[in-house]
Amino acid sequence: MEELASYKGHIVAFPLPLQGHINPMLILCKALVSLGFSVTFVNAESNHKRLLAHISAAPSTGIDFVPIPDHLDTPIATVDVHNSNNLLLVRNTVRKMRADFESVLKNIVSNVKVKFILSEMSVGWTQETADKFGIPKVTLFTESAASLSIQYHIPELLAKKHAPVRQGCPDLQSIDYLPGFPLMTTADIPYSLSAHAEKLDPGFAQRVERKKVLLKAKCVLVNSFDALEHGVFAGLRAKFHQTVVPVGPLLPPAFLGTENGSNKPTTLPGMWPADDTCKQWLDRQQDGTVLYVSFGSNATLTMDDFVRLARGLGLCKQLFLWVVRPTLVPGSSLDELLKVVRRNSIYEGQSCTVSWAPQLQVLLHPAVGWFVTHCGWNSTLESICAGVPMLCWPLTAEQNLNCKFIADEWKIGVRLLDDSRCIEEVITGVVESQGDSQMKTKVKKLKEAAIKESKLITKTIDDALSSKSRS
Ligand code: UDX
Repeated sequence: MEELASYKGHIVAFPLPLQGHINPMLILCKALVSLGFSVTFVNAESNHKRLLAHISAAPSTGIDFVPIPDHLDTPIATVDVHNSNNLLLVRNTVRKMRADFESVLKNIVSNVKVKFILSEMSVGWTQETADKFGIPKVTLFTESAASLSIQYHIPELLAKKHAPVRQGCPDLQSIDYLPGFPLMTTADIPYSLSAHAEKLDPGFAQRVERKKVLLKAKCVLVNSFDALEHGVFAGLRAKFHQTVVPVGPLLPPAFLGTENGSNKPTTLPGMWPADDTCKQWLDRQQDGTVLYVSFGSNATLTMDDFVRLARGLGLCKQLFLWVVRPTLVPGSSLDELLKVVRRNSIYEGQSCTVSWAPQLQVLLHPAVGWFVTHCGWNSTLESICAGVPMLCWPLTAEQNLNCKFIADEWKIGVRLLDDSRCIEEVITGVVESQGDSQMKTKVKKLKEAAIKESKLITKTIDDALSSKSRS
């Protein structure tokens, strides 16, 4: 344990045990190691195994990985958290991990001084643990600064009855008090703050507490970059007087091209092994001709929507590569889903399907012209950093908020679901229009800004942790 001590100090990290959270936390920890910190990365056992399998193929990270029990029969990260019962199950399970985490921490503090605990807002008890052990907590927020701002504003949103929002409610209200935001309506408030979610989550009112927990952290590091959300970051710091720092995009340096100056193939530890055969299919297509379709690791579609999308993709006549996860449509087998895709493809070779793609490599492939996405925050950042515009179909969580910024603020994508047009018309309209090149120019500018900022990430983090950050 002695070797844990480093000249900058020791950090104990604990990510929310879900795919979209572990990878950014791991990349941040690697940056911390390069700054001279030592890190213990505490992780649910099933995720730990996957991480080690992935990392064993890569150079040493300088991080000590420590597993704690999942407390579930299935790997926690594969649980569909968009099902109400499952969500509560995952919440309770993460609560159970507190005792295991504290016992790891106790062992560490008996050997080495811990500089801070690095965890997420959604693992609320880590602040209590930090207080109990007298160690500062630094929060990593793995979503956008806008989503973070919503968390700070929950008490105000509730007081003004702008949340919870009834989904599909025609009576939209404008929201103009969120600093740095474009004009919002209640439809843009994250789905996770909907009346539906309230029903699922009896402790909804306790969300007000999140703001207090957030404000207690030594600082909040956000997986976003300043050029993307400058106004929101500035607004947050001015209104809440807290150190809120953009440290993103938390993506592999090889993907961003900051390692050796050029983008090169890279992978992230995934839920399932990536099927590389799609790369050979992509190699056979012309530049910019393929729509890449993926809904992340956890979101689900109804069978009706799956068929609607399959039909739209077929009829728009574009080539498409679709990640059809076995869990994408609850209650339907992978075989059934693949039959629907085949039936709706209108010419031989129009489509390629895989259960899990090497997404970073796919997005960097010259054949890929557009990303049909659920607007998960990792996918959004990856698309921007690959310079690929988006066709948005937000499904859950804060994906509608991300979509709002993609379509209306940054103008690097369009909504796929349009009241007046069907999917094939939206796709054809955008791919064949002037808008295509304008969006591509805009997304490439953001990509350059992201890469520029990511080169300064270690300095930004260093300044934030020593409280010298921009304020
Ligand atoms: C969840 C929420 O849905 C999202 O709204 C929130 O912002 C983060 O947590 P998830 O649904 O997994 O995340 O989506 P996303 O954030 O986009 O992350 C998916 C990750 O899986 C990405 O890093 C992507 O590269 C990777 N992926 C996805 C693959 O590697 N292969 C695939 O086939 C699909």
